[in-house]
Amino acid sequence: MRLANRVALVTGASRGIGRAIAIACAREGADVAVIGRDRRALEETARLVAETGRRTVPIVQDVSDVAGTRRVVERVASDLGRLDLLVNNAGLYQVRPILEIDEDDWDLLMATNLRGAFFCAQAAARVMTRQGFGTIVNVASDATWTGGMNPCAHYCASKAGMASFTRSFAKELARFGIRVNAVAPGMIATDMGEDAAKVMADLQIPLGRLGTPEDVADVVVFLASDAARYMTGTILNLTAGLVLDR
Ligand SMILES: NC(=O)c1ccc[n+]([C@@H]2O[C@H](COP(=O)([O-])OP(=O)(O)OC[C@H]3O[C@@H](n4cnc5c(N)ncnc54)[C@H](O)[C@@H]3O)[C@@H](O)[C@H]2O)c1
Repeated sequence: MRLANRVALVTGASRGIGRAIAIACAREGADVAVIGRDRRALEETARLVAETGRRTVPIVQDVSDVAGTRRVVERVASDLGRLDLLVNNAGLYQVRPILEIDEDDWDLLMATNLRGAFFCAQAAARVMTRQGFGTIVNVASDATWTGGMNPCAHYCASKAGMASFTRSFAKELARFGIRVNAVAPGMIATDMGEDAAKVMADLQIPLGRLGTPEDVADVVVFLASDAARYMTGTILNLTAGLVLDR
């Protein structure tokens, strides 16, 4: 098992990609704390994680509340004994033409996708520097490079910010034994992805299908595992050939 006896924290784990990542980490031997906003959905994720035999803690927390998220990260490290892996997955998407994006739209997406993710990573890094070990995987997006398949300039900016801080964290934290990487998925069949896919039904994906949450989860597990021990600061293109140049 590639994550045997590690402790992981996955944000936005009540459904979609986050739920698949939580289950995949548990199947690889990790105890997994799951954060989300919807208690019932989160408890279903926790039930699926527990079925693997690993420990799990479901915690209702909005990651845009930085102080609350800091407390949750410290609590997970204390309750589960340590924190080896943070998967910064919580995210919001919005299709909005540039001329219609207002300050509230901008603030909403930035608060979750960039500010929330940044400070969650910072809180995890505080625990991991004390341990001298840890890894962070950020779930960015191919929007970092494409400018968005649909009109969503604020979403693209938030994910490009995440890709950027992935590199900064990787450089600054390497000396503490902490690796920081990101995945940049293309079109994944989730509630969020299907909304996007509807608008672009004629899209040609070279590998011929939308991705599944498990397609993303498998790559996250790889990045979190010792098989990726020489990788940090990498943004992995996970688009089935949709994006080649970057
Ligand atoms: N689906 C795709 O095609 C696609 C492509 C590229 C990147 N992504 C990224 O993957 C991640 C997961 O997306 P998904 O497709 O599973 O979407 P989803 O909408 O199905 O799931 C997103 C999850 O994040 C949670 N969340 C949102 N805001 C939150 C907040 N403020 N605090 C805590 N939790 C919050 C939601 O409740 C939900 O559980 C997102 O970061 C998204 O930007 C998705």
